[in-house]
Amino acid sequence: MEFYLDTANLEEIKKYLDLGIVDGVTTNPSLIAKEKGVDYSQRIKEITELVSGPVSAEVISTDYEGMLKEAEKYNSISSNVYVKLPCTSEGIKALKTLKTKGIKVNMTLVFTASQALICAKNGADLISPFIGRLDDISRDGLNLINELALIWAQYNFSSKILVASIRNPQQVVESAKMGAHVATIPPKLIDKLLHHPLTDSGLEKFIQDYKNATSTN
Ligand code: G3P
Repeated sequence: MEFYLDTANLEEIKKYLDLGIVDGVTTNPSLIAKEKGVDYSQRIKEITELVSGPVSAEVISTDYEGMLKEAEKYNSISSNVYVKLPCTSEGIKALKTLKTKGIKVNMTLVFTASQALICAKNGADLISPFIGRLDDISRDGLNLINELALIWAQYNFSSKILVASIRNPQQVVESAKMGAHVATIPPKLIDKLLHHPLTDSGLEKFIQDYKNATSTN
């Protein structure tokens, strides 16, 4: 499973690069807004200078023409930019056109298997089901990933399932068990994925035992 960082913050990206877990980065307009006054294109350029894997940049336009214009702009920044389009009729039309131009696309705000199927049929490179937001409205986000895994096992879709809107480490593990290709993870969750109190207490005891033994010699 690939891990992407779900952030537009350069310091967070730098912090986790050394852990070998930044296979890519996803951004969205809300994450850019948190960066206060940062220009979206400039920030995407900066991220692509740090990360060689896929870096998603999301369009603001909601109409086909506007999406295409923004997509061309982001695509010209770097070869590893993936244009993020909303899963609407206009977004699907833009996806279809962008694929004829060889531009890589991540379809976002996906909440049902039927939406994901339409994205896959149109050649989306990445498809982003938002599982946390489904849980937020008392639906089962992981059930959507299970449905997609079942469907993907029947066909040869080239689209990768990118699990998004992740709220806890177990959602990453469950998605991996189902064979999801990618998880995009908020940086604050990375520490929770790695940390275990028994690792800490075990290490402390190893060191203490060694010190006790060597100090009596
Ligand atoms: O990348 C978009 C997605 O991960 C958003 O997550 O937490 O805003 O639902 P969230």
